[in-house]
Amino acid sequence: MTTPRTAETREILDLLSARGKALEELYCRADSVRQQHMGDEIFLRGIIEFSNLCSNDCLYCGIRVSNRDVRRYTMAADEIVAHARELPARGQTTVVLQAGESPVFGDDELGEVIRRIKRETTLAVTVSVGNRPLPVYRYWRECGMDRYLLRFETSDPELFRRLHPDCSLDERVECLRHLRALGVQVGSGFMIGLPGETVETLAANILLCRNLDLDMIGIGPYIPHPGTPLGDAPNVYRDDPEMFFRAIAVLRLFNPDAHIPATTAFDAVFPGSGRDLALQRGANVFMPNTTPVEFRRDYQLYPGKPCVDEDASQCATCVLHRIEALGRKPGAGPGHSRKSAGKTPQ
Ligand code: SAM
Ligand code: FES
Repeated sequence: MTTPRTAETREILDLLSARGKALEELYCRADSVRQQHMGDEIFLRGIIEFSNLCSNDCLYCGIRVSNRDVRRYTMAADEIVAHARELPARGQTTVVLQAGESPVFGDDELGEVIRRIKRETTLAVTVSVGNRPLPVYRYWRECGMDRYLLRFETSDPELFRRLHPDCSLDERVECLRHLRALGVQVGSGFMIGLPGETVETLAANILLCRNLDLDMIGIGPYIPHPGTPLGDAPNVYRDDPEMFFRAIAVLRLFNPDAHIPATTAFDAVFPGSGRDLALQRGANVFMPNTTPVEFRRDYQLYPGKPCVDEDASQCATCVLHRIEALGRKPGAGPGHSRKSAGKTPQ
């Protein structure tokens, strides 16, 4: 038995089918809602992919444990902190510490890195290292962690189960609840066009973001990686890639106050222009890659990832030019959540 569609689902499905003039109107509306609620600043969050070790086996992910072709690396704590120290001078007011899901880089060690960055810089600290027990999140929060990114990937529990041998959708949503209860600013999101999803899944993903009342929402096209079991499984919207932008525009309409990054995967699908277009269709955050250049090729979640040969300062200069060309300006402050302002640790 299929569940009847709600009025909101019907509205989203209608918007996701926009073409021609209706599509232009959708993009205009999304851009003006972004402008009204989030302003013209584009917040820069420098991302350091500090380790590609992962003990999980997500079926789509290039750094899954079963991909033996990956040269594994983990940056030293001193190296991470040294790279973070360089960000404020480049206009980047947040550091995002991202890695696979692995116990190798200890919870205590990461806590110490967070503490040092908070002590030695003005940066807001975002962490993105997957599902962890509540006491670990609490400890990182005490160390000064401001935000956490953990995508739910898909709102369809059965599809989630097929793609993730290591955890369930309920467990992931539980992690998001724990983080919220600790007063951490919470980011989540999903991939667009996973094999096995339908446009109804996409509508449900957008509604789940709204229902979770997220502070930040990262979404991006799914891109098949040849070293994974889904290597031959194309994106559902391969013949209609405009859907990636419709999704971001509708996401903005349903989440007017959330920070929405123009994620890197948009540039992989539309080289050189994807992230700029996303910023004109609802997004307000850019995450320049700050990973040392010698590790970038080893953190390939999907093929075609941009900027693998540029170093952090080249990426920083490039992003400032892109922002200027859009007639926008880099965010001056940390770009904390519009929803939980004042709740971040000192
Ligand atoms: N381990 C952390 C976690 O799981 O949240 C952070 C790293 S994880 C590799 C970062 C994100 O990359 C995932 O949430 C997923 O959405 C995205 N990703 C992985 N493989 C991808 C693919 N083939 N295409 C597009 N995005 C992908
Ligand atoms: Fe690393 Fe999924 S494969 S978190």
